[in-house]
Amino acid sequence: MTLKDKKILLGVSGGIAAYKAADLCSLLRKRGAAVRVVMTRNATQFVAPLTFETLTQSPVYLDLFAAQHSYEMEHISWARWGDALIVAPATADVLAKMAAGIADDALTTLYLSFTGPVVVAPAMNTQMLEHPATRKNLITLEERGVRIIPPGVGTLACGEVGAGRLPEPQTIIEELERILAGNNSAAEETARSSANEVISDKNGVTAVRDNALAGRVVVITSGPTHEYLDPVRFLTNPSSGKMGAALARAAASRGAKVHLVTGPVSPSVLPTDCATIHRVTTAEQMLLAVQALADSADAFIFAAAVSDFRVDRPVEKKIKRTGNAVVLPLVENPDISQAIGIRKKPGQVTIGFAAETDDLEANALTKLNRKHLDAIVANDVTNPRIGFESDDNEGTIYLRNGQKRFISRRPKDEVAQAVVDVLVELLQPAHNVPSQEDT
Ligand code: PMT
Repeated sequence: MTLKDKKILLGVSGGIAAYKAADLCSLLRKRGAAVRVVMTRNATQFVAPLTFETLTQSPVYLDLFAAQHSYEMEHISWARWGDALIVAPATADVLAKMAAGIADDALTTLYLSFTGPVVVAPAMNTQMLEHPATRKNLITLEERGVRIIPPGVGTLACGEVGAGRLPEPQTIIEELERILAGNNSAAEETARSSANEVISDKNGVTAVRDNALAGRVVVITSGPTHEYLDPVRFLTNPSSGKMGAALARAAASRGAKVHLVTGPVSPSVLPTDCATIHRVTTAEQMLLAVQALADSADAFIFAAAVSDFRVDRPVEKKIKRTGNAVVLPLVENPDISQAIGIRKKPGQVTIGFAAETDDLEANALTKLNRKHLDAIVANDVTNPRIGFESDDNEGTIYLRNGQKRFISRRPKDEVAQAVVDVLVELLQPAHNVPSQEDT
């Protein structure tokens, strides 16, 4: 979806990243959108309303009780005008007010009056972002349908390195376009959701839509993680996110509500039929995002290639050459699939992937047990025609009950359908009795 002729309400709250909102506003205008800006009082400490008035050629909405030019109530008339509301940057304070339904200024009053899609781009210090209060507020907003553009990682205004940066305006625009397109397709999905329909996705893959996962919530991890050494370098792997996206499409095509938690991948890979997409950078952020979704989930598919290690203390400034070896101690990252597997509730199903270079079966079975999975898909990541980055995959699915199923090389969308077939079986009540191994 393009933003041309869309009417965008841009909310700006008071953080140092407010200056980036001016670039965002200008980029929205260049994309052909009409923009109206609403600011909090604190935001005006960082950037003058005149900047936005000049960029948008219209007044900024700032004060609930300012002298009116007309007898219109701005929060109502603006809410009626806008196609979407994006708050960027969204501070911890404004997120808390939005979550609690407090309407004590122009921005929060507009939020409560607005019935269209709302997108927030949080930006703040890492500790504030990771505080349980902020995390809870983000979960509350997300449950209410507010879409969250996850903050980036890097050096923050406070000098710390971590999560909390407002993503670049270009990234926000791409997310906004994708989210608005997703809203459309979700509406279309609802309109045409009938049982046992044959569907064809954008890659031309045909699959039976049997709604076997209707009413089920499936959380899927996907893509790589980036573990920063310094502000500009990170540890990662070649995962493209194609396998995770194919799984998301396959589960959605069977009627599931899919939450995709993805590491950094190209926006073009991201599926359009997920209920939510959570873009994260590091393993720790991926764990937090999955844990936040865990209570509501019926099943988890862990396709992400999570870095098992991170640098203990990322260096705050770019590491310089000195002619000497650089030693950076690595520590283990949390194992997301194991953390969820150990604590899964009765009836919840977990399926993992094993990216192997040798001894596929033995290594996969060890991971199946160690991570308390119900099934694991072993794929050979030394074969360039499958596994990382390629459009095809091949593997064997090992089930906890001892069964195994080989899936010969084929497009990832078809492999994903085979994995989802196993998920459908595992979610049947008959499979939820403990196997002999468990007892
Ligand atoms: O993204 P693509 O380019 O399409 O490539 C697909 C893929 C090769 C990445 C995918 O098919 C795959 O194999 N994913 C799992 C990669 C992996 O990390 O495997 P592993 O054997 O290291 O981990 C085993 C399982 O534990 C996986 O389900 C993994 O998501 C999970 N894990 C691993 C480490 C960790 N810290 N947390 C985890 O949850």
